[in-house]
Amino acid sequence: MALLARVSAAAARDGEPLVDLGRGNPETGPPPHVVEALAAGAARSEAHGYAPFSGLPALKEAIVARYRDVYGVELDPEREVAVVPGSKTALMEFALVCVERGETILLPDPGYADYPSAVALAGARRGSFTGFDSIEPAAALYLNYPSNPTAAAAPPGVFAQAVEWAGRTGGVVLHDFAYGDLVFDRRRPESFLAVDGARDVGVELFSMSKSYGMAGWRLGFVLGNAEIVSRVEEVQDHVFAGIFRPVQEAGIAALTGPQESVEERRATYERRRDRAVPALPGVEARSEGTFFVWFRLPDGLSAESLLFEHRVAVAPGEGFGERGRGWARLSLAVTDDTLERGLERLVAAFG
Ligand SMILES: Cc1ncc(COP(=O)(O)O)c(C=O)c1O
Repeated sequence: MALLARVSAAAARDGEPLVDLGRGNPETGPPPHVVEALAAGAARSEAHGYAPFSGLPALKEAIVARYRDVYGVELDPEREVAVVPGSKTALMEFALVCVERGETILLPDPGYADYPSAVALAGARRGSFTGFDSIEPAAALYLNYPSNPTAAAAPPGVFAQAVEWAGRTGGVVLHDFAYGDLVFDRRRPESFLAVDGARDVGVELFSMSKSYGMAGWRLGFVLGNAEIVSRVEEVQDHVFAGIFRPVQEAGIAALTGPQESVEERRATYERRRDRAVPALPGVEARSEGTFFVWFRLPDGLSAESLLFEHRVAVAPGEGFGERGRGWARLSLAVTDDTLERGLERLVAAFG
């Protein structure tokens, strides 16, 4: 986020060390067996040539098995799965293959700060999605639950409404499931594709970044509508020419090996959420999932004043859209110690 980067750089120049609760990068990497799979793959001389451009069939089988076991969704690995270098890539590809210049893409507001780049790349017009009561005509709708930045889990019925909207208008739906496994308070992860008719009108993006701590590895999936999947694979073929085979092999190890680390990560963020939200008394603060807490800035405070006067960095809400103004996002993807120091400074700032 440009604003955050600017103020962080300025603040880092002098004074007391900054406590950074602005980041959105998992603080721990994947479990050892995943790293070992990468190393073993890279040690084989035949691993270094081109991998199949559309991804290893075994990797597609692995994500299909996970969708069956964890989300109760059956997918066809040959027609309904594309392998992509991270879901961010797919956010862009989806816009390019589904939307014509000048058409409208509706984005969550507030929403992930990279969605507008997809709109710009497609030469599309950006609209705001704030609910189905007041939805404007559009070629495509981006949804994201649990949400970055608001940390909201999917409201009941929202996916069925999206399918109904798409069926009625001819629009297409992208559900960004980057934080899908990180839900709290005994919620079950909810896949868009578990809803009847979803795969007729849209796709879901699954990321290896947050569930498995593999953000820098660049591995993710587009799942669902077979026509969109095949268009995304076309882009993959010509633009990326495949993903390094050992990265895909390590992805198979992550998806099919022991899953304890996924639950450990989820439970860690829930524990930190349980520490952070009550520590901010009198402040409207929420988190139903992800590794963020979304909170309203008390009168007289801004992300900048927190940074410069109180030496704690949070992500300013307006960076996520107009409706984020007056709010801010703090990250739980930090060490317990950093979180404690950050909370101390926030509490002092809130007075
Ligand atoms: C909502 C959301 N979608 C997508 C991404 C990108 O994830 P990936 O690493 O799979 O590209 C992020 C990363 O922060 C995110 O917050």
